Order: sequence, then C-alpha cells, then structure tokens
Amino acid sequence: MKNILQFLGQQKKKIFLGLLGVFVILQVFRPEANDGSVYSSNDITNAVGVPPDVKTILETSCFDCHSNHTNNPGYWHIQPIGWWLSDHITEAKKELNFTEFNTYTVRRKMKKFREITEQIEEGEMPLDSYLWIHSEAKLSNTQKKTLLDWAKMNEQILEKKYPDSVPPRKH
Ligand code: HEC
Repeated sequence: MKNILQFLGQQKKKIFLGLLGVFVILQVFRPEANDGSVYSSNDITNAVGVPPDVKTILETSCFDCHSNHTNNPGYWHIQPIGWWLSDHITEAKKELNFTEFNTYTVRRKMKKFREITEQIEEGEMPLDSYLWIHSEAKLSNTQKKTLLDWAKMNEQILEKKYPDSVPPRKH
C-alpha cells in the first residue's frame, strides 16, 4: 500500500484517498434487504397446484428476484453492488412476485403464466448476470420443459374457467 501511494505521487495520492473516502461513505447507505418470507397466505401455492419438481425450480432459479426473500450474498453489503441488486429485485417483483401471486386478478395471473412461457422459451430468465455467479440456477432442458408445461397448463385451466377474462394476445 505504502509503495503504491509513493508511486502515485502527491496529487494522485489525494485523488486516490478522496475516492477511497467516497467509497467508505457509500457503505453506510445499505439498501433494505429483501428478507421477508418466501411463502405467505397469498403465495403461488395457494393460487395453483405447484408440484414438487416445479417448486424446486422456482426456488432455485427464480425466487431470489421474484419473491419476498433473497438469499443475500455477501456482496449485498458492498456498495454500489448492493444497490444494483436491490434495484433489480424491486423491478423483478413489480413484474412478478410469487410470494403475492394470489393477490393478482385472474386476468393478470393468465398474463403472468403467458409471460413465464415467453421468457423461458426465449431463454431470458433467469437473467444472464445472475447466472454468472449462480450457475446452479441455470435451467436444464428438462427443467425448462417442466416449467413450460406447468405454466401453459395453468394458463389453459384459467382460460377455460374464466373465458371472459382472457387478456388479448399481442400477435
Ligand atoms: C437476477 C434476478 C432474476 C431472476 C433470478 C429471475 N428473474 Fe425474472 N425478471 C427479473 C427482472 C429484473 C425483470 C423485469 C425486467 C425485465 O423484464 O427484464 C424480470 C421479469 C420477469 C418476467 C416478466 C417479463 C415480461 O414479460 O415483462 C417474468 C415472467 C419472469 N421474470 C420470470 C422469471 C422466471 C420464471 C424466473 C426463474 C426461472 C426468473 N424470472 C428469474 C429478474 C430476475
């Protein structure tokens, strides 16, 4: 450390210490952790049947962002990485929160099952940036099929039961 500072010289040393100071101060502003319960009286298992294999996939690959509980990695505590993660989770939950799935209207539920199908077919979820560090969350072809069959089946069941609420198709 001392050698590096000598090497940087007086001006650069000031800049470096300034940046270090800013970095230290940033650490005080930790984002609120997403540490509620994954399951609640309004969760997905109360809305539709969730077989054990589907449940495992959702827990391993989706719940860190799409539920009220993230298994916080250590770098949650390092800013600005923590803010960046927190932002992602807020966005993800706004789109789809499995912990609160049963509070959605029938129409929104159908839409969400349709979107799950789209996201999986297009290989968009889980997000690439997440898979870099969570390789266990990567979906195998078998897991993709399990999830797709489940989402499509539930969309169809709801469509049959509530034909008047079916959201219009985009295409
Ligand atoms: C690392 C966080 C993360 C993980 C893990 C993750 N998602 Fe997402 N998801 C997001 C974010 C952020 C958005 C909102 C922005 C976007 O669409 O990219 C989103 C959006 C969605 C949407 C709505 C897309 C639309 O059509 O608007 C669906 C459906 C979805 N995710 C399904 C899943 C499923 C299913 C899994 C698990 C297989 C999963 N996601 C895993 C972060 C994540």
